[in-house]
Amino acid sequence: MDFRRTLEAPDQINNRLFRRILLSSVVCGALLSLQACSNADDVTAGSEPTPSITSVTNFWPHRSSPLAQPDAYETNIDALLAQMSVEEKVGQMIQAELQSVTPDDVRNYHLGSILNGGGSYPDGVKDAPVEAWLAIADQFYLASVDQSEGRVAIPLLWGTDAVHGHNNVMGATLFPHNIGLGATRNPELVRAIAKATAREMSVIGQDWNFAPTLAVARNARWGRTYEAYAEEPELLYTYGKAVTEGLQGAIGDDWFGPGRVLATAKHWIADGGTDGGIDRGDAKISERELRDIHAQGYFGALDAGVQSVMASFSSWQGEKLHGHQYLLTDVLKQKLGFDGFIIGDWSGHQIVEGCQPDSCAQAVNAGLDLFMAPEQWRELHANTVAQVKRGEIPMARIDDAVRRILRVKFRAGLFDTVRPSERPYAGHTEWLGAEEHRKLARRAVRESLVLLKNNNGLLPLDPTSHILVAGDGAHHIGKQSGGWSLTWQGTDTTNDDFPGATSIYQGLAQQINAAGGRVQLSEGSDDSELDLSEAIPDVAIVVFGEDPYAEIEGDVTHLGYLSRADLELLRRLQARGIPVVSVFLSGRPMWVNPYLNASDAFVAAWLPGTEGAGIADVLLRNTQGDIQYDFTGKLSFSWPASVNPPPLGSDDEEYAPLFPYGFGLSYADGQELEKLSEESVIDLKNPNEN
Ligand code: BGC
Ligand code: BGC
Repeated sequence: MDFRRTLEAPDQINNRLFRRILLSSVVCGALLSLQACSNADDVTAGSEPTPSITSVTNFWPHRSSPLAQPDAYETNIDALLAQMSVEEKVGQMIQAELQSVTPDDVRNYHLGSILNGGGSYPDGVKDAPVEAWLAIADQFYLASVDQSEGRVAIPLLWGTDAVHGHNNVMGATLFPHNIGLGATRNPELVRAIAKATAREMSVIGQDWNFAPTLAVARNARWGRTYEAYAEEPELLYTYGKAVTEGLQGAIGDDWFGPGRVLATAKHWIADGGTDGGIDRGDAKISERELRDIHAQGYFGALDAGVQSVMASFSSWQGEKLHGHQYLLTDVLKQKLGFDGFIIGDWSGHQIVEGCQPDSCAQAVNAGLDLFMAPEQWRELHANTVAQVKRGEIPMARIDDAVRRILRVKFRAGLFDTVRPSERPYAGHTEWLGAEEHRKLARRAVRESLVLLKNNNGLLPLDPTSHILVAGDGAHHIGKQSGGWSLTWQGTDTTNDDFPGATSIYQGLAQQINAAGGRVQLSEGSDDSELDLSEAIPDVAIVVFGEDPYAEIEGDVTHLGYLSRADLELLRRLQARGIPVVSVFLSGRPMWVNPYLNASDAFVAAWLPGTEGAGIADVLLRNTQGDIQYDFTGKLSFSWPASVNPPPLGSDDEEYAPLFPYGFGLSYADGQELEKLSEESVIDLKNPNEN
């Protein structure tokens, strides 16, 4: 069932009335017909739907699983369930973290899954080789299928966050973060990236990706804004479907073929809609906004047969998603027909009222199927078993949760496969950071760049000229990759941690040198490091922006970019008559008016990942003087005109972004940007950074 039906046939729009309905159908894309959409009225939490909806059950579309029902595996599942003890069943419902679990634990507790969190590697070794990953994957797998002493053999799932490529493994290709992929407006590219990511995961024997993030980030203060494709729901349906199919394979012949992994749509729901953009906060929004904005990506993922959904740390109208029976069970499983399993987030059950990290019957009863219980999983196991035995969790709920987990394991082919090291692609190190994947990433970088300013047609540059490449982001792979890059927050890395990667400087230098031009690198921002004694460069490319961050740490109270050092560098170069191209690295749109003024050209480059050469491809002409690649990226987030823009969707009618959603220049545009106001609530002379 394709929920986009209402979005199709735009050429039939020939009168204003129809156009109005179509516009509302874009946000009501989840509904089955224009009729249903235009009839749907606002339903806010706790209030009854207005009479124009026949019943509350029509508010969310009624759909069924796109996979065959009953599932071919139900008889096998019945047989397994009949053999399992309560202890074994509860074990299947628990996922422990690599640093706190051994293969013996998996054997003894029948754990259904393990994960490695951000920055967690075999034996804690960052540069663990492929063989080490595979060896440990084999040990865990073999423990899970050990049938000695009457055990049931149920292969375990190893989950990881490969959110922009296989980002936790040294040598992998890192693609631009989702914010950049949103700017490409290219679902086929996103599908290809997901496929490449799954293949790189298969090299080290992992089965399951905690991606895609389908958040619609309504407030860029949120530290996970860059994990979101956009601030509007428009792209989400197609992207959710494309990524899911890229990871799992499309339903049909391609489904869980060689080199495919399980996908997770996360974080259900409205993680990007919290008040103030606070990570793990409360989305105080109507149910209509849940459906028409935040659920859109899930409709795409569900249509593609996504097999797991991760509950959000956040709340809806004050109630934690991890304990939200209505949204987990009534809406997701019953109305939307989701027949895979719901995984919790990192000990996320503990924040449900009355729960602890090691005890939360409420979450299971609300519909959570698999606890992500990184550390205190042993106690959680014991307590959950006791709760089942005391009748606090009905046996039927446990059976349903385990049935879902087993169903997914069957569908993913885990019962038919061999140990991880013997599966297709396993140990084929040539696929980790493969040339083909790096080329794809480089293309994604090119397509993700958004040109905000190009006065006097400064870009594209002549590669035979003398080009200064400056700024602390110029030759810093960690900075150009952002959070979730080898470490959780993306901090504490050096360029050596990214073998095979190309910094933005290296990409430029390669082409400038090949063209016979001259390139000079100056990473520091003060004058002493900027050696202009020999010759004044023709032009400077300055690469600067946000330092890496991830969830929690990345939240900010305003959107001002306030590095005084960077601003002074731009101004000093301009004062010497050197034209300046700014390449701005960031995980969110930011107020940068002074930097825009101090630059002749300005490129929003987001967090491009390991293939920095994509930037040279667009910024430089070829030796014949032709444009190599034009800018095609368009903002998927509106660009703020002040440090404190109102959140999206607020009823502030005054809100006028500096550059609207969808903006992006190309070389033919020839648009000049006037000097912008530099006044802002925050005094740049007293920046709170640098
Ligand atoms: C994040 C998830 C992630 C999980 C496992 C959580 O803190 O919110 O997105 O999948 O950790 O690393
Ligand atoms: C882990 C992450 C996880 C986070 C949750 C970190 O220690 O490495 O994967 O998302 O904790 O708080």
